[in-house]
Amino acid sequence: MSLQSGSPILGRLVVIGLGLIGGSFAKGMRERGLFFEVVGVDLDAESRRIAVDKGVVDRCETDLATACQGADVIQMAVPILAMERLLGQLGRLDLGDAILTDVGSAKGSVVRAARRIFADTTLRFVPGHPIAGSEKSGVEAANATLFRRHKVILTPLEEVDQAALTRVDMLWRELGADVEHMQVEHHDDVLAATSHLPHLLAFGLVDSLAKRSENLEIFRYAAGGFRDFTRIAGSDPVMWHDIFLANRESVLRTLDAFRDDLDALRAAIDAGDGHHLLGVFTRARVAREHFSKILARRAYVDAMHSKDLIFLAQPGGSLSGRVRVPGDKSISHRSIMLGSLAEGTTEVEGFLEGEDALATIQAFRDMGVVIEGPHHGRVTVHGVGLKGLKPAPGPIYLGNSGTSMRLLAGLLAAQPFDSVLTGDPSLSKRPMNRVAKPLREMGAVIETAAEGRPPLTIRGGQRLTGMHYEMPMASAQVKSCLLLAGLYAAGETSVSEPAPTRDHTERMLRGFGYPVEVKGNTARVETGHKLGATRIEVPADISSAAFFLVAASIAEGSELLLEHVGINPTRTGVIDILRLMGGDITLENEREVGGEPVADLRVRSAKLKGIDIPEDLVPLAIDEFPVLFIAAACAEGRTVLRGAEELRVKESDRIQVMADGLQALGVKAEPTPDGIIIEGGPIAGGEVWAHGDHRIAMSFSVASLRASGAIRIHDCANVATSFPNFLGLAATAGIRVAEEGQA
Ligand code: S3P
Repeated sequence: MSLQSGSPILGRLVVIGLGLIGGSFAKGMRERGLFFEVVGVDLDAESRRIAVDKGVVDRCETDLATACQGADVIQMAVPILAMERLLGQLGRLDLGDAILTDVGSAKGSVVRAARRIFADTTLRFVPGHPIAGSEKSGVEAANATLFRRHKVILTPLEEVDQAALTRVDMLWRELGADVEHMQVEHHDDVLAATSHLPHLLAFGLVDSLAKRSENLEIFRYAAGGFRDFTRIAGSDPVMWHDIFLANRESVLRTLDAFRDDLDALRAAIDAGDGHHLLGVFTRARVAREHFSKILARRAYVDAMHSKDLIFLAQPGGSLSGRVRVPGDKSISHRSIMLGSLAEGTTEVEGFLEGEDALATIQAFRDMGVVIEGPHHGRVTVHGVGLKGLKPAPGPIYLGNSGTSMRLLAGLLAAQPFDSVLTGDPSLSKRPMNRVAKPLREMGAVIETAAEGRPPLTIRGGQRLTGMHYEMPMASAQVKSCLLLAGLYAAGETSVSEPAPTRDHTERMLRGFGYPVEVKGNTARVETGHKLGATRIEVPADISSAAFFLVAASIAEGSELLLEHVGINPTRTGVIDILRLMGGDITLENEREVGGEPVADLRVRSAKLKGIDIPEDLVPLAIDEFPVLFIAAACAEGRTVLRGAEELRVKESDRIQVMADGLQALGVKAEPTPDGIIIEGGPIAGGEVWAHGDHRIAMSFSVASLRASGAIRIHDCANVATSFPNFLGLAATAGIRVAEEGQA
């Protein structure tokens, strides 16, 4: 609810304690005009004078009883240790129906005092804590916008009067704050960890260094790092002394946990245990980056008032030059998984630094594996052996990545510890029974949410038994999941596929020295062998190259060279299909790199024609259909796809979402249960939705090359899952697509 300023709906606000926070609250409220009058109370005469002079309050009172009589809202903004005494004074007054609230930065001590003093009449007390501040202090620094876009945490008690809570919540929102509600204990623990402990360390470190005279010299050489780290040691000592005394229990708990970790670091340095140090530092660095990203995203979201990342693709253009697309996603995932399970150190080059593959790295870091990088595609994995994984400290979050979740399910089903796997809203809708069911047949204990969706709760400590499994669908993820479980399951595990699917797991297991037998359509492993560390060079991802293969084919006057692309025969369906449609693609410089075939692909524009796509090519081009549908829309005649019902359970329902988008651009596209029928013809400009599916977003970007008007593509943020620099490379090659507002 937002209220009109200038129309008071409440009587009197009393603010007790006219410092920076109390003064800013009073001033903001006064400017919003919600109260008939704002009255300040402070022991210091000078503060009262300034508050009136600067328009922070309407007037001041020296006597608490006079000020509070008939008040609607009383805001207690005194130092935290003075809060108990103030509550005692208020407890002796008749406060009528006044709502009582506070701004103390620790809540347990205030709430305990309130309960003692008001016995069972804490109904109209709403404890609060604005997380805002400034280098300046005092009422002279009062700033009506201090709380805008800052968090205010309310910690309502169980018995609170809902109307009182709603009112306090509304007042903070009026000042532009993001209000959250939390339990008292949780608030104090969170603040102890994120604010109080860092202040303690900063104060403590600066004092410890400064009091040893021999160290004074080093301050002269203190560089930016020291200055950044110790900035908060310049905070108000009295206020912080109050906070530590008020939040003693939570601070001690966090401090003790930290002391244990610090002792472990000390022991590692003492013992020359670089592995431990590297583990702590790499994990911390990622956590810090993640934290900055969250903050940056928040700023972005605040600025845009929405999560929608829109690509704007201008019509026309042609492609030329040479492009190297990022590393193969499937191989990148597997390099981390097998590298982690190997004995020794695996070096990876060409790793895809997209969000999906990074989620896999994070999962293994959570399970205690030390992983350096990625830095310019180089990753170093310090393998822990097949039995060396440790339980993750909490649920493992896999973002948008179905491959991570399904492959990890197999691996984790065989570990001695429990695990929980979660993902983003798109991943949370994807079917997991396809892995849970066969894993259960091997003896795994796995719970899913309704209809076999994530999260997956995997119970450790089960003895798995190898088995033969005939996959009902052609899925490399299911096959790989079972082969990974098979590394641990007693005896042999074999998987047959109804049609060939990507075989990167089989190839890479062999690369790590683990025997895999492949006969016909069946892959087999037996338990009891080891993985030895190796070097992996990840080729460029043919699934990312596919956007450029189609783009250069449909845009007249194009010739483009795609460098170092993986052409594993289980992945080249897109080349075969485009060639059947009349595409002009040649393979140059074919070679084998680390067990995977690679080539440079030269593609020239061509007049495409519609075809019936052979069903045996479907699993070999499974991820490339969204962009192949764009090729079909640009081809002469009709293209028919059948036997591709799997497309309905990818990052989005790719049949429906592509059909909707194509229709919005004036293309005749008719979805069928297991495919689509597309009539080639003109493409208009228009508005389409990617539904958070990276490949849909990139496909419609490609469509613009033949569109008669601009295409606006909504919901494109997930392009970063598989193709971090898509917009940059697209622009270099000649596709006129950019983030809306940035072109
Ligand atoms: C993948 C297998 C395919 C593919 C996915 C990656 C893999 O999924 O669509 O993008 O790395 O094993 P399915 O196994 O579900 O077909």
